[in-house]
Amino acid sequence: MENDISEVLFSEAQLKQRIAELGQQLSEDFSGKNPLVICVLKGAFIFMGDLIRKMSIPLEIDFMAVSSYGAASKSSGVVKINKDLDVPVEGRDLIIVEDITDSGLTLQFLQDVLRRKKANSISVVALFDKPARRKVDIKADYVGFLLPDEFIVGYGLDYAEKYRNLPYVGILKREIYS
Ligand code: IMP
Ligand code: MG
Repeated sequence: MENDISEVLFSEAQLKQRIAELGQQLSEDFSGKNPLVICVLKGAFIFMGDLIRKMSIPLEIDFMAVSSYGAASKSSGVVKINKDLDVPVEGRDLIIVEDITDSGLTLQFLQDVLRRKKANSISVVALFDKPARRKVDIKADYVGFLLPDEFIVGYGLDYAEKYRNLPYVGILKREIYS
């Protein structure tokens, strides 16, 4: 796998430190609220596990799986729910945990769906943000790192379902996907 990476962008230590900061911030902002923390599968699964262990408040978790990409590196613009939430969200304070906001279409779709279910509040934490590629005017409330317009893998993020198990985040060589 390592041969397919052109540059390591964020080391394990850098990820760990930033996620601890996010966890502390969320603990302050959601103190006394028992938020429902929603992991957007699959890309956010490692981030979610590390993030909630840096949150010191009572919380509950659930999972949603959506897909917009298939096996390609560009969004099709069509978002589909592959796995829905198990618990009702009416009246709950939700924290959506996303791996990366790219076009923003996935996030827009999720917010629309959850708003219709009458959540009390909806906040979004995204580990990464690629603002240069946005197609809709939307932004996560909490962002770990801003990214250049490159395709990244590792720490849960895939290309064609591979590389999720890299412990760091790196730029995938263009020849792998073009
Ligand atoms: P959006 O709907 O275009 O914002 O795309 C969101 C989803 O696309 C993310 O949750 C990722 O699964 C995937 N994605 C976008 N950019 C990358 C990337 O650089 N590497 C891996 N996955 C990505
Ligand atoms: Mg993906």
